[in-house]
Amino acid sequence: MIQWFLKYRPRSLKDVENQEDAKKELQEWIESWLKGKPNAKAILLYGPPGVGKTTLAEALANDYNLELLEMNASDSRKLQDIKSIAEKAAVYGSLFGIKGKLILLDEVDGINTREDLGAIQGILELIEKTKYPILMTANDPWDPSLREIRNKVKMIGLNRLGKYALRRILKKICQSEKIECEDEGLDYIIETSEGDARYAINMLQGIGEGYGKVTLDIAKAMVRRKERELDPFETLRDIFWARYAWQAKNAATSAQVDYDMLIRWISENIPIQYENIEDIWRAFDALSRASIFLKRAKAGDWDLLSYAYDMMSSGVALAEIEKKKPNWKPKWKKYQFPSYIQLLSKSKDLRDTRDEIIKKISIHSSFEKTVNYTYPYFLIFFKKYEKRLSLSPKEKEYLNSALKS
Ligand SMILES: Nc1ncnc2c1ncn2[C@@H]1O[C@H](COP(=O)(O)OP(=O)(O)O)[C@@H](O)[C@H]1O
Ligand SMILES: [Mg+2]
Repeated sequence: MIQWFLKYRPRSLKDVENQEDAKKELQEWIESWLKGKPNAKAILLYGPPGVGKTTLAEALANDYNLELLEMNASDSRKLQDIKSIAEKAAVYGSLFGIKGKLILLDEVDGINTREDLGAIQGILELIEKTKYPILMTANDPWDPSLREIRNKVKMIGLNRLGKYALRRILKKICQSEKIECEDEGLDYIIETSEGDARYAINMLQGIGEGYGKVTLDIAKAMVRRKERELDPFETLRDIFWARYAWQAKNAATSAQVDYDMLIRWISENIPIQYENIEDIWRAFDALSRASIFLKRAKAGDWDLLSYAYDMMSSGVALAEIEKKKPNWKPKWKKYQFPSYIQLLSKSKDLRDTRDEIIKKISIHSSFEKTVNYTYPYFLIFFKKYEKRLSLSPKEKEYLNSALKS
């Protein structure tokens, strides 16, 4: 299932709503590069979520037939690759038909400057030496870690999208998807989305796929007022209590913590929230799939991040079968902080024991997948379900020591 906000992302600047000033400045900037007299080496495009920052970058590259070299904040290791390309002379590029390039550093305010000490320095060097235009985006350009970068760039601000722009965006989608959309219903979505097109489109998709039409009543029942950011406890509650896939996904994507951390929070609390061992199995299985997508996303295939979010949110939420019953009620549970569990199996004997355990739990998936993705989570909840798994004393001992290490 493709996300509508990606499916309907404008491919050309002319289709981007509002943001006329920004479009003009971006065009002038790229044209100054094409003339060989850049008016700025780098631009910092900033504004609240879902107003078109990433969209503008992609549309700009597309309109000028530039190759987009992209780095996301959560993968700043890629900076080195980009630097080595960016610093090479491009003088003869056009003679050989090599495409021009646009460097996109998306969400630079999301770079974890504590864990990633070199990243900001690396960006500053990149700006110094680049032979290609650099476009950076940020929600919060005043983040203290961006201070030095601010001095080296031209800043362009984007506004929240207006009511009419959002209405045009949603109506286009209603037409293409052939869903009946009443204006009052759309307006309700628009008001709750506070100028964030991604949020509005996600709501529309949730309702459209669930009901096939949008009315005021349905919108009122389904749309939740937008939360700024949820703390991890709220995120967990919204994921575990979600009855619809899109509710869980919204909770995951508005989490304060990033996806790696979120996976740890969820895994710690699955056995706390769910009581049925098969629900727990399904939830961990979904989480293990999320890890697989996440790993591939981090290897460069960022489109897969959306699936990782689907699995860790909707996959986990819908693991509870009881939810489908009309009289289902969410159970309040006290959640825990994630504990960090390390897997160390040094001796061969330990490894054999581990493999036996894995065989027992890998009924639904391959052995290898279980070793890498499910087993670490399994360790966390084994204590609680020890009795039901008919493990040998040796296996139990192994699990206990793995939990301690
Ligand atoms: N100005 C806009 N005009 C048309 N669609 C938009 C606009 N801004 C956002 N969108 C829609 O919302 C989605 C999310 O926007 P995006 O550019 O990713 O936001 P952000 O500012 O957070 O980078 C896009 O994929 C697109 O479908
Ligand atoms: Mg973006």
